[in-house]
Amino acid sequence: MSFSSQFVILAAGEGTRMKSRRPKVLHEIGNLPLLGHVVALANAAGSDRISVVRGPNSDGLADALGDLADGVSFPVQTERLGTAHAVLAARDDLADPADAVFVLFADTPLLTLETVRAVRETLEGGIDLVVVGFETDAPAGYGRLIVEDGALERIVEDKDASEAEKLVTLCNSGIMAFRGEHVLPILDAVGNDNAQAEYYLTDAVAIARERGLDVAVALAGESEVMGVNTRAQLARCEAVFQDRRRAAAMLDGVTLTGPETVFFSHDTEIGADVTVEPNVVFGPGVSIAESATIRAFSHLEGARIEAGAVIGPYARIRPGSHIGEGAKVGNFVETKNTSIEAGAKANHLAYLGDARIGARANVGAGTITCNYDGKTKSLTDIGASAFIGSNSALVAPVRIGAGAYVASGSVITEDVPDDALAFGRARQVNKPGRAPK
Ligand code: UD1
Ligand code: CA
Repeated sequence: MSFSSQFVILAAGEGTRMKSRRPKVLHEIGNLPLLGHVVALANAAGSDRISVVRGPNSDGLADALGDLADGVSFPVQTERLGTAHAVLAARDDLADPADAVFVLFADTPLLTLETVRAVRETLEGGIDLVVVGFETDAPAGYGRLIVEDGALERIVEDKDASEAEKLVTLCNSGIMAFRGEHVLPILDAVGNDNAQAEYYLTDAVAIARERGLDVAVALAGESEVMGVNTRAQLARCEAVFQDRRRAAAMLDGVTLTGPETVFFSHDTEIGADVTVEPNVVFGPGVSIAESATIRAFSHLEGARIEAGAVIGPYARIRPGSHIGEGAKVGNFVETKNTSIEAGAKANHLAYLGDARIGARANVGAGTITCNYDGKTKSLTDIGASAFIGSNSALVAPVRIGAGAYVASGSVITEDVPDDALAFGRARQVNKPGRAPK
């Protein structure tokens, strides 16, 4: 039988230092809530069960997670009496535990799958309790790992530490994992006789040692176990997240000419041989097929970009945009809920909303789809190989036939048949010699 695992994610934080109406764990990095990162990690690790322990006033957590909340239970910790007490709020989910039970903090979103796997292997190798620790130059505030003769004896919280213990730089990340059968017996034995009168999860180590169980430390990098209590720490986590995504994209064959200026979302998908120029922002829901080019200062969200397409510089690609193979969307062009089919071009200054631009069509500078009449949104349909002259207003609902030609400066309010030439503007009048007057 395979070695099963389950996760208890502590999310009952008050988050007062965020000065926010939102629960702390719903603040985002890479456009995904902190809690979402931790749930996604548990899923990636092959979790059999996930319990998110929430506070009494946070029933919006599940909604905020969307699909990630599928199959997750949300036990409530009614009083905030400490981290061990919080884990016990998931008691029902722990009655028949998995082989490995992980306790993760929802405000520590950067833990990696590699570390989770290493911890799991340590448990599988026969250790009963694994604590994820890290070395830091600034240990103040953290629990310290007290190691004697090479073995982890106990964890002492900063507020309970002696002067000598405060000098220890090996710290507790907060993350630990138990052999399933030990979780409830150990946590039920935790008391609250300490400086904060809290039930400390960290006491699990000393209790396990007293019972003759095997305890080990797994080391993680400091940036991996960084927690979020303030907006400044949120920004630091975002920076680490972005660095990881940039490195991963480049490993996958993406050229980033100015990597430190490109911002990804948690779900950005980019194919090989894509080039992303500096100062590009990917909002949620973007996928880019191979060999496309995203030129400088472009902003994309909710969009699919096909192979070889060229976007920008200075393009704004909004949700529902589908840019076809080899299509071009140039500077100061905004698209929304619009499909630009293969080889079509909108090279300069246009608004294309609720539209289909047929294959190889050309949309001139200054073209606007007038999709909104103040009440409803309507569609503009432009056929293959049509030509829309500069500064045209296409008043939707309207259909421009395949191969049709719209003269510059037209206001088009009626459908244009295939291959027709449409003028929708006043005829020019020249008055000879009148200029001086
Ligand atoms: C905890 C650890 C400490 C470690 C540090 C790492 C304990 C006793 N201490 O301290 O050793 O170095 O994290 O950041 O575990 N929570 C609840 N319910 C509670 C209390 C906490 O859900 O009653 C959740 C919080 O939302 C948070 C996590 O548990 O996600 C940690 O709680 P926090 O109070 O921040 O613990 P620290 O004092 O930082
Ligand atoms: Ca903390």
